[in-house]
Amino acid sequence: MKTLILYYSKYGTTEACGRQLADKIRGSVEVLNIKEASIQKLKDYDSIIIGASIYAGTINKEVKRFIAEAAEILQEKRIGIFLCCHDKQKGLGEFMTANLPDWFLEKAFVKAHLGHEIKLEAMNFFERGLIKHIIKVKESYSQVDSVAIENLAAEINGWEKVDG
Ligand SMILES: Cc1cc2nc3c(=O)[nH]c(=O)nc-3n(C[C@H](O)[C@H](O)[C@H](O)COP(=O)(O)O)c2cc1C
Repeated sequence: MKTLILYYSKYGTTEACGRQLADKIRGSVEVLNIKEASIQKLKDYDSIIIGASIYAGTINKEVKRFIAEAAEILQEKRIGIFLCCHDKQKGLGEFMTANLPDWFLEKAFVKAHLGHEIKLEAMNFFERGLIKHIIKVKESYSQVDSVAIENLAAEINGWEKVDG
């Protein structure tokens, strides 16, 4: 099984989660920034997992554009999605439904929330103000959900068994 993990990550959390996930998936796995991915490249893989983060309730527009442009080929693949964001419940619910097309969510074998990190020192003044308003956070912290990463990897590895 060949798996491609495509991520968009502003401060590195989604990328780190994608790389931890890759280490736990059997078979050949590649991790790539979605900005560097071409639609043609998707043809080489059986499974495509997309990882994105949430800013003010929204998935980055490059992720949305890539999914729209690659719709035809993504519909022929096993696809999955994981989000990194503060609000787990919304991350598994309305952040997915509000940001991703219906066909994508129906087709996705796996949908996961893998936690989040807050890196105040990396943010600009505007973002620091916004995040302090959303979360009331005073210090940077990491809440990457290693159990969720394990579970997601186990689900993806389960597809391989189904395929034989
Ligand atoms: C300016 C800003 C806005 C954010 N807005 C939300 C939000 O609306 N909901 C949420 O659950 N998390 C929100 N977050 C948390 C991010 O999704 C979280 O920090 C995530 O780990 C970022 O991942 P990345 O570094 O891969 O981009 C926000 C973070 C920042 C800095």
